Amino acid sequence: MIAIRNTTRFWGAGAQLLHWLMAAGIATSMVLGWVMVNMPAGSAQFRLYALHKSLGITLLALVALRLVWRWINVTPPLPDSLPRHERWLAKAGHRALYALMLLMPLSGYVINSAANFPLNVFGLVQIPNLTPASESLGDLASNLHLAFFWGFVAVLTAHIGGALRHHFVLRDNILRRMLPVRHASDDRSRS
Ligand code: HEM
Repeated sequence: MIAIRNTTRFWGAGAQLLHWLMAAGIATSMVLGWVMVNMPAGSAQFRLYALHKSLGITLLALVALRLVWRWINVTPPLPDSLPRHERWLAKAGHRALYALMLLMPLSGYVINSAANFPLNVFGLVQIPNLTPASESLGDLASNLHLAFFWGFVAVLTAHIGGALRHHFVLRDNILRRMLPVRHASDDRSRS
């Protein structure tokens, strides 16, 4: 059984659930965003926009919860065997991911607010607009939303590549400690 909270060796079930739920949500928002802006205008496009925005606002709430959960839990340290520059890269990458998990939905929220468009999350909760209506602010937020998307793709590629390298090349437990599976050697060594 995996504990809900983190330990000094493993991410707990709470952190794992938030990690994988957000990974699926972010991938889905990226695909939805890309498809909806490139499809013909009409009711199907309108429904995809509404779905994209609802999912994005849900991800914004989830990243806030994730940051609180991280703050009130211990963080399993990186293995001592990791060279200093790799440790630095991993930490910088994680900070960039948290920044993008906030900036991506916030810039989308500003696009919608500046267009003075009503925002209803999954038809359940009405969310107030963040900013006054403004075409120039909307254009700026739209350019940033696209730039953050490409930044996100770059950092996520490095993040996923790093996790796979640890698992298949270095054969340590870095990927396994974010999965609900354990290996006999996980309980003996930290690397
Ligand atoms: C993690 C969350 C999000 C991701 C990964 C994401 C991703 C994307 C992507 C890939 C596009 C296509 C970009 C382009 O080709 O211009 C897009 C467009 C868009 N997104 Fe998001 N998005 C997120 C959150 C949000 C939120 C919360 C809202 C609004 C409440 C939103 C509103 C929009 C709008 C209105 C567009 C069309 C942009 C335009 O017309 O210039 N997004 N998004």
